[in-house]
Amino acid sequence: MILLAFETSCDETSAAVIQDGRVLSTVVSSQVRLHSEYGGVVPELAAREHLRNLMPVARGALRDAGVEPAQLDAVAATRGPGLPSALMVGFRAAQGMAFALGKPFVGIHHHEGHLYSPWIAGRPPVADFAAFQPNLSLIVSGGHTMLVHVAGELRHRVLGATVDDAAGECFDKIGKLMGLAYPAGPEIDRLAERGRPDAFDFPRPMIHDANDEFSFSGLKTAVRYFLRDRPGLTEDLRALGDVCASVQAAIVDVLVAKTLRAAGRLRVACVTASGGVTRNSSLRRRLREACEQSGLELRLAQPELCTDNAAMIGILAERKLLRKTGTTPWVADVLPGWQLHEALEA
Ligand code: KG4
Ligand code: ZN
Repeated sequence: MILLAFETSCDETSAAVIQDGRVLSTVVSSQVRLHSEYGGVVPELAAREHLRNLMPVARGALRDAGVEPAQLDAVAATRGPGLPSALMVGFRAAQGMAFALGKPFVGIHHHEGHLYSPWIAGRPPVADFAAFQPNLSLIVSGGHTMLVHVAGELRHRVLGATVDDAAGECFDKIGKLMGLAYPAGPEIDRLAERGRPDAFDFPRPMIHDANDEFSFSGLKTAVRYFLRDRPGLTEDLRALGDVCASVQAAIVDVLVAKTLRAAGRLRVACVTASGGVTRNSSLRRRLREACEQSGLELRLAQPELCTDNAAMIGILAERKLLRKTGTTPWVADVLPGWQLHEALEA
């Protein structure tokens, strides 16, 4: 089966061509530089950029894969959650293309795409579902932080999520307080390399709570007051590194502790992690160490598959089509507020 997939839920325009579990090509056009000027994603600008980029990105993916539109067996796109106007661009284009070709169309839940992305491995990436085993999955992105029990392939249950800011949002907002450009996560990661993680003792919200929920807005507020009381501190590069390393340690401590606790409670043998924040070097290292100590297998999404991409959408769409659970009706619309637990019924 050859499938073309689109992802336009936020600020990345992406298209990928999938054939029988293999990613033949992926093109990602990031709008990060455009939104950076405004300190966050501006929905109207995102939609306009998606419109501008979608066809060149799709043509690029088809060309790289050496595939003609007439060879496609299906077309897929992210249906939600995300920015309504941004989702609409990729979703409608995919629907129109599938309709014109007379092929099935599949609307995919963005987080379900992240959830199964750790099972895509190698360069070029190939779906590795033969190795699939029940797992506890941490999804950490710019908009979401959640723990999910994946009891079987395409069988999952959300255990808990953030009650306020997501981990990525926390990185980005704290970075903004320090004058770093959006998105600040990668820059904090880089600056933290030269800092001391124990230089400042920032709060680890809900780390000891016996539930699977997260909260990061208290940490953000604590850092805001900390910086307010020390004007000019982060102008010193050493101090900036220390603040970044200490903030990163607080976020990573919470993510690792809660992930490992949930895995222990559920008695799974495997932990997976995905989403943009999974690119964070400290999170990757600490999860590896913690899982090794606990005798758990760890599958981290490959760095280029952590951030938003159409390859994870296409691989999942193909999986769903093979199981005959995938086709989305022509009358379907985007679902900007789609919850992951609802994706199972859709
Ligand atoms: O999954 P993603 O690409 O988009 C959403 O679906 O939200 O995640 C983007 C988020 C941003 O908040 C960004 O700052 C964060 O991932 N991020 C990182 C790193 N790379 C990306 N956060 C910390 N360290 C990184 N290396
Ligand atoms: Zn995402």
